[in-house]
Amino acid sequence: MSQDQWSAVDRYIADLYVPPDPALDGALRSMAAEGIPLINVTPNQGRLLHILALAKGARNILEIGTLGGYSAIWLARALAPGGRLITLEANPKHATLARANIANAGLAEVVDVRLGPALETLPQLVAEQAGPFDLVFIDADTLNTPAYIAWSLKLTQPGSLIITDNVVRDGAVLDVTSSDPYTQAVRDINETLASAPGLAATVLQTVGSKGYDGLALAVVTEQKH
Ligand code: SAH
Ligand code: DHB
Ligand code: MG
Repeated sequence: MSQDQWSAVDRYIADLYVPPDPALDGALRSMAAEGIPLINVTPNQGRLLHILALAKGARNILEIGTLGGYSAIWLARALAPGGRLITLEANPKHATLARANIANAGLAEVVDVRLGPALETLPQLVAEQAGPFDLVFIDADTLNTPAYIAWSLKLTQPGSLIITDNVVRDGAVLDVTSSDPYTQAVRDINETLASAPGLAATVLQTVGSKGYDGLALAVVTEQKH
C-alpha cells in the first residue's frame, strides 16, 4: 500500500460522497491563496465529523483549532436547529480568514470564532458557562492537547463526544524512546484518553490524501468535574 493508492481511494470516496460545494471549496482555495498551511481535515474526514455531529444531534459544539474554518463549516452544518459552534484560534490571520469563509457559507450567525490562545479562551468558556458541549473537536497544537482534553472534560457532560485529531502521526506514536516532544505528547494524549475516568475511548487509524494518522473518539460516560 502506498500514499498514491491512499490518495486515489480517498478521491474515489470523496467523488462519491462529497459533492462539489462552493463554500467548502472556496475555503480551501482561500487558504491556499493566503499561504496558510493546508493542515485542515480532508473532505472525507470533514464528512465524518459532520456525520458524528448529526448522529449526536449536537446543538452545542466546541472546536479547538480553527485554521481557515474548513472543519468548522462541516461541523456547523450538522448543528441541530438553534445550535451554535464556538471555535478557538490563536492566529489572527487564520481567525480573520475563517470568519470570512464561515460567513460565505451562511454560518456567521451560528459560529463564534474566538481569537486567542486556547489555554486562555477555554477558562473563559468555563467562566461564562458556555458548556456543556455535545461535541468537542481538538485539532490545534499537539503539545497542549493533554490540557485541552482536561478542559474538555470540564465542558462536557455524559454522552458528549470528544474527538482528537493527529494521534498516530505516521506511526511515530510507537517510538517509546523518542526525544521528539511531539511524539511524547501524542503518547501522552493516548494514555490520557485511554485511562481517563469517565471516558470510553478508542483510536481510528486513518489513511488518505493527507497520509497516515489517527482520530481518537471518546464518549463521556461519567461527569468527573
Ligand atoms: N480544524 C482545522 C485545522 C486546524 S489546524 C480544520 O480541519 O480545518 C490547527 C490550528 O490551531 C491552526 O490554525 C493554529 O493557528 C491553531 N492553534 C495553534 N496553537 C493554538 C493555540 N494555542 N490556541 C488556539 N489555536 C491554536
Ligand atoms: C499538522 C497539524 C494538523 O492538525 C494536521 O491535521 C496535520 C498536520 C501539522 O502541524 O503539521
Ligand atoms: Mg489536525
